[in-house]
This record gives sequence, structure tokens and C-alpha cells, in this order.
Amino acid sequence: MAENITLTIDGKQVSVEAGTTLLKAAEQIGVEIPTICFHEATTANALCRICVVEVEGQRLLQPACILKAGADMKVRTRSEKVVRARRTILEMLASTMDLSDAPEILTMMDEYGANADRFPQAERRESEVKDDNPMYIRDYSKCLLCWRCVQVCAEDAQYTYAINFEGRGYETQIGTFFDRPIPETTCVLCGQCVGVCPTGALKPKREYLLEQGVSPAEISVMNTGRKRRAADKRG
Ligand code: SF4
Ligand code: FES
Repeated sequence: MAENITLTIDGKQVSVEAGTTLLKAAEQIGVEIPTICFHEATTANALCRICVVEVEGQRLLQPACILKAGADMKVRTRSEKVVRARRTILEMLASTMDLSDAPEILTMMDEYGANADRFPQAERRESEVKDDNPMYIRDYSKCLLCWRCVQVCAEDAQYTYAINFEGRGYETQIGTFFDRPIPETTCVLCGQCVGVCPTGALKPKREYLLEQGVSPAEISVMNTGRKRRAADKRG
């Protein structure tokens, strides 16, 4: 049986099994730490840093989604330093990408008093909507590179490996091998990537078309035509 350790989070003592992350330890006592890149179904990678907390004795803020609770740790999840860091992260996101389809992040912006115009010189991530398959669209101007879609497409769920990171540094974005259209990749249109995307960068095609003003009747006609062409192809 795993050993239990005791630590203090925001002044409250909590006992957890060794190996428990600070995020889960905080949850046990009803302390909510915000997350963006973390998802229960994917391996945590600590990419967004919104979950940072202050751990006594450590100079740098630590990501609660991956840091394991330690015996006698003293953790502060809402110190001034933490709140300032989260606010800045949100402001950087708002300056570089389109958050209009990310209601949870917009709520966080309100909660932390983040100013979406704080970095007016920031280069925005611009991208054409990729509409190349019958199931979903990809709008990478709304992508915050959380990696969840890549992970569910790979070892965390589907083992399909249709999408991955491409480019380096600021140029990094999610894409297919050689930027091929989705039907030319290993994608099986399972939809798991769409399900875990927190920002609307991946969206069901029907929802996208409705937003574009296409009527349900027109969408039905499109789908019928698509199915007929697929049947013709099969001979
Ligand atoms: S497309 Fe969505 S799930 Fe994939 S990395 Fe971007 S924000 Fe995350
Ligand atoms: S939620 Fe922990 S780093 Fe993103």
C-alpha cells in the first residue's frame, strides 16, 4: 500500500498518497486550481503554466498539474505572485490567439482581471480555417498548443498519430505530416481530438457550418452528396 504524506495547502492540512500531484491534493480539500492544458484523459505535460502555485522554499512557481506532493510541503495557490503570474499568462494568450471560442479561459480572464490588450505589439497567431474533411474543421488561430489533441491521437487513446507538432519556437503549430489534408493521413475521424480541444480550434463541421449561416437543410444535402460520392467510389 502506498505511504501517506501530509502537507499544507492554503493553510489547510491534507493527507494524500505519495505520488499524488498538488492539483489532486488541492482538489481533496476543495481548493480549486485553474488548469488549461491539463485533461483527465491525457498525460499532463505542464505546457500552459496556468496552474502554477507557490511552494515554500522554492524560488520559482511550480506547475501543480505535475508536481508531486511532498511531506510537510507548504503550498499557496492564490498568493499575490501566483495571481500575477496567472494574469500575465492569460494576457499573453489573449494577445497572441483568438479566444472567442474558449469560454472557460474568458471566464478566467474576468476572474483574474486580465487585460486582453496588455501586449498590443504581440504577434498574433493567424491561420486559415482548414476545412478538408467531412467531420471537423481546424482553425489554428484559436490553438494554444496544449497538445491534448496530439496526445489523444497518439498513446493516450487512439494510437493513430495523424497529427503532431510541427515547426519550432514561435512557429510551432499542430499539423499533419507534410501538412497533408486529413483524408490523406492516418486519421480515422474518431473525433477524440475535437472532444478534448479547449478552445474551439478543432470543431465539428456541422457546428462550424451552422455558425457560418448554412441551414440544417443545406447541411443534410451536403452530407447526402458526400455519402453518394463515397458509395460511387466504392463502386
Ligand atoms: S488544436 Fe486544440 S487540442 Fe490541439 S493543441 Fe490546439 S488548442 Fe490544444
Ligand atoms: S494545467 Fe498545469 S501547466 Fe497547464
